Amino acid sequence: LNYNVSRERRYILEVLFNGLRRLEYRGYDSSGIALDADFPSCASSAPAPAYAGAPPLVFRQEGKIESLVRSVYSEVDEKDVNLDTAFNVHAAIAHTRWATHGVPAPRNSHPQSSGAGDEFLVVHNGIITNYEVLKETLIRHGFTFESDTDTEVIPKLAKFVFDKLHDEGDVTFSQVVMEVMRQLEGAYALIFKSPHYPNELIACKRGSTLILGVNELSGQNSGKPFQDVKALTTNGKPKELFFSSDLCAIVEHTKNYLAIEDNEIVHIKDGSVSILKFDHDKEKPASVQRALSVLEMEVEQIKKGSYDHFMQKEIHEQPHSLTTTMRGRLKDSGVLLGGLKEHIKTIRRSRRVVFIGCGTSYNAALAARPFMEELTGIPVTMEVASDLLDRQGPIYREDTAVFVSQSGETADTLLALDYALENGALCVGITNTVGSTLSRRTHCGVHINAGCEIGVASTKAYTSQIVAMAMLALAVGSDQISTQARREAIISGLSSLPSNASEVLKLDAEMKELASSLIDSESLLVFGRGYNYATALEGALKVKEVALMHSEGMLAGEMKHGPLALVDENLPIIVIATRDACFSKQQSVIQQLLSRKGRLIVMCSEGDASAVCPSGSCRVIEVPDVADCLQPVINIIPLQLLAYHLTVLRGFDVDQPRNLAKSVTTQ
Ligand code: G6P
Repeated sequence: LNYNVSRERRYILEVLFNGLRRLEYRGYDSSGIALDADFPSCASSAPAPAYAGAPPLVFRQEGKIESLVRSVYSEVDEKDVNLDTAFNVHAAIAHTRWATHGVPAPRNSHPQSSGAGDEFLVVHNGIITNYEVLKETLIRHGFTFESDTDTEVIPKLAKFVFDKLHDEGDVTFSQVVMEVMRQLEGAYALIFKSPHYPNELIACKRGSTLILGVNELSGQNSGKPFQDVKALTTNGKPKELFFSSDLCAIVEHTKNYLAIEDNEIVHIKDGSVSILKFDHDKEKPASVQRALSVLEMEVEQIKKGSYDHFMQKEIHEQPHSLTTTMRGRLKDSGVLLGGLKEHIKTIRRSRRVVFIGCGTSYNAALAARPFMEELTGIPVTMEVASDLLDRQGPIYREDTAVFVSQSGETADTLLALDYALENGALCVGITNTVGSTLSRRTHCGVHINAGCEIGVASTKAYTSQIVAMAMLALAVGSDQISTQARREAIISGLSSLPSNASEVLKLDAEMKELASSLIDSESLLVFGRGYNYATALEGALKVKEVALMHSEGMLAGEMKHGPLALVDENLPIIVIATRDACFSKQQSVIQQLLSRKGRLIVMCSEGDASAVCPSGSCRVIEVPDVADCLQPVINIIPLQLLAYHLTVLRGFDVDQPRNLAKSVTTQ
């Protein structure tokens, strides 16, 4: 870009824009940014502010991050930029949004403002449940609202509190934020910026995740992890401090981070950090000291490398991600899951296992259900998180509730977790995100270690989740002598999964070709049963969410009870008929569909083409044969490839499908 922007200014902007790009997978319908104004001409149109100096520069834009980038650079370029500005300290905030309250539009984008002069600006992740009451009160006090968001009450409340406290004497930024927190209900991670407190930022959270990243730019400690945050305040070295709702946004700057805890107020002032713990009942917050952690993630993980899309990269990474999920955990005689050690006996004693998740994670749990039941003998029930909450379904102290979530931040799943905790169940987390709310709030769990997943459509996390749950089932069932041989066979099947995944990825070109024959179809059905009912649901979900084609996964056993009416020579139908105990039943399903002139695509085990389709009238996808209960891990891969190619060929956005977000952190 060849805009007339100072080097320092460009650096600040690029840090923020890149951070947003890394978070874009979380939401991408609008975005915004606020930074300090040192452009004298920018202040002219705003009403005279109630503080010294220029009001912050605020930009809000509908659409993807790049439209914000363009609008910021062209606006800054048009104005008379002061190139000589000194940038000793600079505090700026940015946000990318997935609309919950209010349509995507600049006025609904964050930062939300206290009003004229932008005395308080706030970016927010989460939901404020009592915003209507707060809004009414603030309107009675003369505030006018411009957006339809729940967030707007926060900066307005901050201004209300500031004005009130200011009349009584000096007020610090953290006092203002603390008073605001006292009033807010719901889940939130917030960052506040105010020209009343130049060079300062405050972040606080309840529920939603918030990370502090610390990068020391030079000096003796450079590159080494800090012992504690106090060191930051005293060593006086130049540094960069980052707040983010995801580690992905900071990994290219630093690996030193702190997961901010609920009710902590983190105050950055003149480049130093202090942390206060908010307590509803106490007037004064206590000051806390926290140690930094070192992030185990490489920046390559969040780059596309030689692939065109993240989804493509993540599909092809599966031989590797499956390996990392199992690394150090498979032993000849059993599995070792450190995060469960102390709870295995309690799980064994439970009357029931309840699997809970949303979307792809739910499907992964569904794939795990048959082997969980088989290896442990414990009945397993399935719950979509939102449905469990809607019904307030029974959860008992004797239950083990297993929560499955790639991000560990899905609001429905977390609310279901709160519900299960209240009801006294043992709560186990299966997640890809170390430090996530799920991993912190469950009693125990398994990290699937699949590596950062960025494509909105989950692929490698799905297969790793199934494998993690297979290991869970093996660990829980390891006291059962009668299933010893079966367990050993599954363990050996697990260790050969990565090579089988490499093998099945060779179907890429074939799936592309199949996709090109389906691009004009309006609908696609996928029939599975037994171990592969989940494969049918997940394959259809992939096609639906990225290729934007109507698609349904169905239990093959239910075919004759309704879906058969849809069958004709045009509707493409995928039937999963790999070798397992249900094979002969699937053979009958294929015959019944063929006799109605169904347009069939059959997935079968290698060498089974004529067994599944003796007439040769169906298209056949042959996949490597693995232990029956692990077959879903392999069978989903061609369907992921199909959805991917279908999306590209139909010209849709692969990594950021319309209307979706990867991590739905609101209800
Ligand atoms: C969203 C995503 C899905 C994902 C689901 C659950 O709907 O678009 O891809 O499967 O959330 O997410 P989680 O992070 O809990 O696995």
